[in-house]
Amino acid sequence: MTLVSQTEFRIFPDDCDAYGHLNQATLLRLFERARWDIMARGPGMDVFTRHGVWPAARKTTIEYRAQAFPGDVIQIDMRLARLGTTSMTLLQTAQRVGDGRVIAEAEFVMVTIDREGKPAPVPDDVPRALGARASRSVSETRQVVAGDLLTSVDVRGEGPAVLFVHGFPFDRTLWRLLATTLTGWRRVAPDLRGFGQTPMAAGDGTLGTYADDLVALLDALKIPKAVVCGLSMGGYIAFELLRRHPDRIRALVLCNTRATPDDNEGKAAREKDIARVRRDGTAFLADALLPKLLAPTTAQTMPDVVGQVKHMMAGASPDGMVHALEAMRNRPDSTPDLARITVPTLVIGGREDALMSAAATRAMAEAIPGAHCTILPDAGHLTPLEQPINTSRLVSEFLGALT
Ligand code: MLT
Repeated sequence: MTLVSQTEFRIFPDDCDAYGHLNQATLLRLFERARWDIMARGPGMDVFTRHGVWPAARKTTIEYRAQAFPGDVIQIDMRLARLGTTSMTLLQTAQRVGDGRVIAEAEFVMVTIDREGKPAPVPDDVPRALGARASRSVSETRQVVAGDLLTSVDVRGEGPAVLFVHGFPFDRTLWRLLATTLTGWRRVAPDLRGFGQTPMAAGDGTLGTYADDLVALLDALKIPKAVVCGLSMGGYIAFELLRRHPDRIRALVLCNTRATPDDNEGKAAREKDIARVRRDGTAFLADALLPKLLAPTTAQTMPDVVGQVKHMMAGASPDGMVHALEAMRNRPDSTPDLARITVPTLVIGGREDALMSAAATRAMAEAIPGAHCTILPDAGHLTPLEQPINTSRLVSEFLGALT
């Protein structure tokens, strides 16, 4: 528990009751003002609203210990006692500066809610401003022997399975916000080989390697069928799963992806990247990709997301990157497969996705029988991180309709 801030307030006569004591309702307001003061001095007062969420008081406990009077200066400090996925518990103490007497101690349980009043993840920059570590474990990470691979995978919740497949060059934490909200489903988010904490083992330079890894993982977790949710390269892998293991797919969520293969120019660019990763390592590619991944609004207002993207890219191994670049270069055209998709499908795009245009995303969705398509505003290539609430709502409604 870290002491994060101290704020001082002078007590005025109109803060007091008919008996000249600091009024308890005023004290409650001062506790609240101290909390906002920390946000104003740290990430900004709009720290919640810019993420589309609000803090709502769930429970307040105050112990009044001593009187305070006009002219007294009260110092209020604050500590983060507990951080959950959608809630936090804050402890605040009000102390008179003159004699050090504790005037009151309070505990506040705050829940983050979205526009509809549903619990939503606490934005990372809030706990960071409160002195907590920004990265929270949102699920249980396990090492699972799946085929020839020791796969790191987050498994959360019970129910029918959703398998999340990340894009290039990211890891399972791409789904951390989405995975916290889809209760009633068993959410399975692995690191693909060579990314995050899953080591690179030899691959054959095709997407088939990843598709077979995922089926081995489903086997190891005893999951016969899953809703497959893939982003970008994760979507390419979902198409490969459809070709190789159609009986394992219950439904599809395709985020920021495309069915078309690389054209000649795209293949040449992959070649150059492969050669350079082999020569110089992965940092240059991460630097080159970053400006293309996020919508301008995200880049300007969501430093936690920018930080996470950099962190994910830094975790990719050179061998993992080379294998994925080869596999993407070698991928076949999935366009002819679209009309043959028989499972329910949801397509999500970002209006400001610099890598997958909204028009191409809509065209792909139109080619899939019965598919629903939504293009989210203020989102680039990483919709689950940039628009976590809207993405969660879309996916949750889609999953709800399946049951
Ligand atoms: C991804 O996010 O997986 C990549 O942008 C896909 C690609 O490079 O084609």
